[in-house]
Amino acid sequence: MKTARELQSEFGIDGTVSISEIAPGYPAIQVNNRYATANIALHGAHVMAYQPRGQEEVLWLSRDAIYRPGKAIRGGIPICWPWFGPHQNASLPAHGFVRNCFWRLDEIRELEDHSTRVILSTGDSEQSLSLWPFAFTLRLTIIIGPSLDLSLRMHNSSELACTITSALHAYFAIGDIARTELHGFEGLGYLDQLDANSRHIQVGAIRFVGELDRIYEGAIATAIIRDGGRARDIEISKSGSRSSVVWNPWIAKSGSMDDFESGGYRHMVCIEASNAGEDAILLPPDGRHTLGMSIAVNNR
Ligand code: BG6
Repeated sequence: MKTARELQSEFGIDGTVSISEIAPGYPAIQVNNRYATANIALHGAHVMAYQPRGQEEVLWLSRDAIYRPGKAIRGGIPICWPWFGPHQNASLPAHGFVRNCFWRLDEIRELEDHSTRVILSTGDSEQSLSLWPFAFTLRLTIIIGPSLDLSLRMHNSSELACTITSALHAYFAIGDIARTELHGFEGLGYLDQLDANSRHIQVGAIRFVGELDRIYEGAIATAIIRDGGRARDIEISKSGSRSSVVWNPWIAKSGSMDDFESGGYRHMVCIEASNAGEDAILLPPDGRHTLGMSIAVNNR
């Protein structure tokens, strides 16, 4: 892997983009353009922060996050792939393996409208093949502009069909979970992951009174986080995804995680653009699929 210094001389853009280590051997990209600032770790192609000018931070990142190769960052936008959630073989990592390895930085470019585009990729390796027997390439395109746009292109380069479940597992920063409502899920069916994946129907907006962990089915509408603790809405739209995961670990579960800052559950909610449950994707040999997510902030 290239060092932060080598990446800086190859990809740095004066005044807008710099690359430096946030922990030894752990490079991250800092973008500061006319629209926003953003941080992206090469480990996991993990967007850690996105803050449009004049706004508060949009993504939640745990103060106790651990920046260590092989450990997923708690907060920001982890990429869960090629499986979402725990694997039936409990010795394999939850949420797949690409959030746990360094990706390659392919491109950083200023676009015509002065947004910044960052492209990272990864593919099969001896290690990935020991966990999952398929050749693949994954490419994540991130555009930092008036909105934050992520597009994850997956390609099955093996000779066998494979089934993928995945998620852009975004953690959003909110003022107060008890005063937060999620819109855009009304009337949808969901699988309750806290109750053996039993099926239910969402009535009205989603509100939080305890741990919540659900896969919403047929979720194609724009989701809106209405945050009573702040005068802004966050809007999340998607493509290539017919399911969304909504998660807040509440007190006991967040307390059991060593990298989840104390009390942090009050200030975060996950809405994940996913291909989960029956929305799993069958990729034939040479098949491709792109999962996309766009995040924008509106002041009220
Ligand atoms: C969510 C799942 O997507 O991720 C939860 O629905 C899980 O069940 C959560 O607890 C966090 O997972 P992890 O592996 O990052 O602790």
